[in-house]
Amino acid sequence: MVASRDRGHSNNGSANMINNHVPTVFGVLVVLAALATPANAADTHIPERPPVATLGNVAEAEAILGAKLLVCNTCHGADGIPKSAATPIIWGLQETYLVKQLHDFHSGDRDSEVMTWMATALSQAELGPAAAYFAKKSWPARSAGAASTSPPALVGVCQACHQQNLAGGLPAPRLAGQRYEYLVEAMRRYAEGERTNNAEMMNIMKALSPAERDLMARYISGL
Ligand code: HEC
Ligand code: HEC
Repeated sequence: MVASRDRGHSNNGSANMINNHVPTVFGVLVVLAALATPANAADTHIPERPPVATLGNVAEAEAILGAKLLVCNTCHGADGIPKSAATPIIWGLQETYLVKQLHDFHSGDRDSEVMTWMATALSQAELGPAAAYFAKKSWPARSAGAASTSPPALVGVCQACHQQNLAGGLPAPRLAGQRYEYLVEAMRRYAEGERTNNAEMMNIMKALSPAERDLMARYISGL
């Protein structure tokens, strides 16, 4: 009982702090708190519910984290298609990539105000199961109409790591079908040293002109 009250308070504290910055996040944290409260307060039929899932155990992660991860849908989309084109698709992204990003947001190695708050709403131990949860979902079907342009010469360089058709794999994440707005901004952030969680990507993007990055982003978003 005491533990659940403490948890409620810390959620409210976070919500108050973030309210000054991003109203959307405030709403999201309220949802988080609301989801957490009944689970804690209710006379649950599983009294010895483990607080975190075993790493790699997807079923357990879903059971424990399911409600908590619903909040991600607010921005990343209940059907896997984000509300805003500046928000990346995370359904069906490579699990290793998702784990790394969540850790990087958690530690601040990847700078994003919104995602730092979101990632730190999860415990270190919950990051792996959360990544598994989204990796297991299918990449959302693309809405028709995105005109695919002919491949820029540079695409061969990208495929060395991002794999055939930029579908991603162990070395690097899927890019194909991410939206233009997110891609072009991600590339700019690497190029201008704002996203610093991968030295190779920073070097590659620094070597491209803004026009080349724009062309790549347009091509990739049409895949
Ligand atoms: C308030 C909106 C919002 C919510 C809620 C949110 N995200 Fe995000 N997320 C973003 C934005 C915006 C970015 C892009 C950040 C950047 O590029 O710096 C992002 C990026 C990410 C990325 C990196 C994807 C990539 O392609 O690099 C992951 C992983 C992620 N979010 C997971 C989550 C998870 C898990 C949750 C729920 C715990 C969540 N997000 C909740 C807005 C949100
Ligand atoms: C040497 C391997 C390598 C090459 C070559 C490479 N990438 Fe990457 N790229 C990566 C890795 C690894 C990541 C994930 C970095 C991280 O941990 O955040 C990444 C991330 C990205 C992201 C961010 C994805 C996201 O969801 O946020 C974009 C965009 C991207 N690369 C575009 C490109 C493009 C365009 C090219 C070709 C011009 C390219 N990359 C070439 C390894 C590579």
